Amino acid sequence: MEAVRQAIDLPLLKRHGVTLTMKREDLLFPLLSGNKFRKLKYNLEHAREMGYQTLLTFGGAYSNHLHATAAAGRYYNFRTIGVVRGEELEGRPLNPTLANARENGMQLVFISRELYRKKSELPFLDSLQHQYGPVFILPEGGTNQRAIRGCEEILTQGDWNYTHVCCPVGTGGTLAGLSRSAAPGQQVLGYPAIRAGRLGSELRSWIPGGHWRLIHDFHFGGYGKVNRDLIEFINDFKEVAGVALDPVYTGKMMFGILEGIRRKDFPEGSRILAIHTGGLQGSAGMNVRLKKKNLPLLHL
Ligand SMILES: Cc1ncc(COP(=O)(O)O)c(C=O)c1O
Repeated sequence: MEAVRQAIDLPLLKRHGVTLTMKREDLLFPLLSGNKFRKLKYNLEHAREMGYQTLLTFGGAYSNHLHATAAAGRYYNFRTIGVVRGEELEGRPLNPTLANARENGMQLVFISRELYRKKSELPFLDSLQHQYGPVFILPEGGTNQRAIRGCEEILTQGDWNYTHVCCPVGTGGTLAGLSRSAAPGQQVLGYPAIRAGRLGSELRSWIPGGHWRLIHDFHFGGYGKVNRDLIEFINDFKEVAGVALDPVYTGKMMFGILEGIRRKDFPEGSRILAIHTGGLQGSAGMNVRLKKKNLPLLHL
């Protein structure tokens, strides 16, 4: 299954002699927007083969991954359990992400931040198996070797004529998949949505060697952090280029790519392919936070 490519037309691109195309993974599968379909595909196949009927996974209150796992569970007929960071959320009105997950049948379990930090430790996972099992456990962000295999399928031969392939980075699973299926001469650039120190140590083991690089300048202070410039950029981009971006991942990446073009990081003649990894479900919840901070709202 291949996503459509959309050419972006902006005066800046012509001035610098580069082209920019977006691969619209966000349009591929409306229920599992963006990289989520890729990450879940082989995991769900495996869970089914192993006879599991329940998926259990982890995420923060605005997690795209929790949202997608709930939708996938409903569509593919798995029971789903979402372990959510923050016991203080228990009993409070649910934000749009969690409300949607619950509508899709996900059982939400709120735990303390301290316990949440144990989310990859075997004794904690065993205790979850004991309490809710048997459950097929997906890691936070959904990244494992099966997810990376799914992300390898984002790029196809038709993408090999681009000079640069760009994607946002959280856990690095998407970048790992892209760097495995990119053509030898292509540069694969990852734009972390989090500060460098917060990137997982697994990232380098998933992407041994190769022609990939992280561009660390566009995390806007860290995961989920935004400012007026970013929100205004996302609103302008939607109006001018006709593509909606999310404020956590794809907005930061596109801001970074355009700034990179401005500062001539991309040589003249570059043909840039940016992967739209989805995440738009989080925009309504972000607007509630923006309103409280007196910042401009995202145009939905
Ligand atoms: C919309 C979106 N884009 C990009 C990413 C980053 O992907 P990865 O964790 O594979 O680096 C995520 C997180 O999973 C995401 O939800």
